[in-house]
Amino acid sequence: MAVTLVKTQPFTDQKPGTSGLRKKVKVFQQPHYLENFVQSIFDSLEGFAGQTLVLGGDGRYGNREAIATILRMAAANGFGRVLVGRDGLLSTPAASCVIRKYKAFGGIILSASHNPGGPDGDFGIKYNTGNGGPAPEKITDAIYARSREISEYRILDEPAPAIDQVAEFTLGEMRVSVIDPVADYAELMTSLFDFAAIAELFRGGFRMRFDAMHAITGPYATAILEQQLGAPAGTVINGVPLPDFGGGHPDPNLTYAKQLVDEMFGDDAPDFGAASDGDGDRNMVLGSHFFVTPSDSLALLTANATVAPGYADGLAGVARSMPTSMAADRVAEALGIDCYETPTGWKFFGNLMDAGRVTLCGEESFGTGSDHVREKDGLWAVLFWLNILAVRKQPVADLVHAHWARFGRNFYSRHDYEAVDKAAAETLMDDLRGRLDALPGSRLGELRVAYADDFSYTDPVDGSVSEHQGIRIGFEGGDRIVFRLSGTGTEGATLRVYLERYEPDPQRHEQDTQQALADLILIAEQVAGIRRHTGRDAPTVIT
Ligand code: G1P
Ligand code: ZN
Repeated sequence: MAVTLVKTQPFTDQKPGTSGLRKKVKVFQQPHYLENFVQSIFDSLEGFAGQTLVLGGDGRYGNREAIATILRMAAANGFGRVLVGRDGLLSTPAASCVIRKYKAFGGIILSASHNPGGPDGDFGIKYNTGNGGPAPEKITDAIYARSREISEYRILDEPAPAIDQVAEFTLGEMRVSVIDPVADYAELMTSLFDFAAIAELFRGGFRMRFDAMHAITGPYATAILEQQLGAPAGTVINGVPLPDFGGGHPDPNLTYAKQLVDEMFGDDAPDFGAASDGDGDRNMVLGSHFFVTPSDSLALLTANATVAPGYADGLAGVARSMPTSMAADRVAEALGIDCYETPTGWKFFGNLMDAGRVTLCGEESFGTGSDHVREKDGLWAVLFWLNILAVRKQPVADLVHAHWARFGRNFYSRHDYEAVDKAAAETLMDDLRGRLDALPGSRLGELRVAYADDFSYTDPVDGSVSEHQGIRIGFEGGDRIVFRLSGTGTEGATLRVYLERYEPDPQRHEQDTQQALADLILIAEQVAGIRRHTGRDAPTVIT
């Protein structure tokens, strides 16, 4: 086996963020940039000789070339086998599923999630461990440290095989198994949900639209919804993955999934609408003329989980990221199960799921999932909703209204200020942090501050501590404002402001969300000086 040791220089900017290393394609195109990071991953792992690595990506620009390089590097570094998705495709949740099912050592997923693709877009790479979940900070820190001192990488002197067919190859001494990217995942879904009931729903004329946003879930949704469940052809739109996502921004929210949103709020709207993101781990759920917030979706799935066969025995517990609304907390309380509050990022749910403490997890950022894999899972959430709708036989809006009537409504919104000046955003956060001690007991607008802190999380399973996870200002009565800076952006900084108000009175559940939160929005501006610091007088995206 001919292995070349290529001399290289470290890059200083290979620090993984909330979800792996994400950079502009142009950054990844620098000679050795990808190879350095991949070698840094391998150098940070122990005991993988002869073991299996799972490899795939969301199909964005650069995916194929990166897969070829990583195959050659995996062979040169001593992996025994690589399971790679046909055409280099694997959604993030499918990669997690495959890692678990085949007891792989770990996996490499090429994706920048919901960030745009194409030559001017973003590229990304992340490492998942043998439990199928994102590498914990201990490993990502080690990868970063290694990337700062790397001096050479190993690569096989042989071209990688073509991976456009399911097939087996040998590369050096390593086996390459090209797998169907959908099959294992689809099989897992049939074990969790009542496919017969959902198929019956479609037979009865139930109308759905799924927007794959020209990203990875196209093949998954077409196979499962149209071919297995019998939804009519055309249920899935934008179903062919494209390297630039058709020029779109593959983020399933009210701003970017415009085609779907227009249809769901138009004349003759379908009964159910859904979308997923670049790598298939996010979901947005809509009813006819009705948007379900991700926080409400988590609460509703928690409340109705037992209708799905995979969850019929009940839930061990539920977890949500700190900025996610507290709607799920109320359901957990009613069910008598634990509810955990973790920092932003799916990696913090892994330990809780591995320890059997939680079954469902969710984030306000259109992420929902369960312990069936160790990533959030867009299509899983959509199938869960379909299972509930098939059993409850109520329109989406009615289901959610009934949920609010029982548990109260958590009005919730996130305001993002994208691509603001990094230094200005950091100053804003530092200023606010410096004033936190003085806030409790004081009045902001009409509200009295109950607590103000910089969220710190102690993992109840391994005791690890993660600090500075977002500034929280909580008010008497339960209203909250949270400020944090994004850890996934690639341009300047993104300030996220999360606003929440609990409303028990059903008479007041029909208000417009932004109106219901108007005074909190004003307080957020006053207390943080967003305009003064960033020069922005309105958010870029409101979800
Ligand atoms: C964002 C979301 C976060 C999610 C992450 C990866 O991270 O806010 O909930 O886990 O993307 O999809 P952020 O940019 O806020 O650091
Ligand atoms: Zn994603």
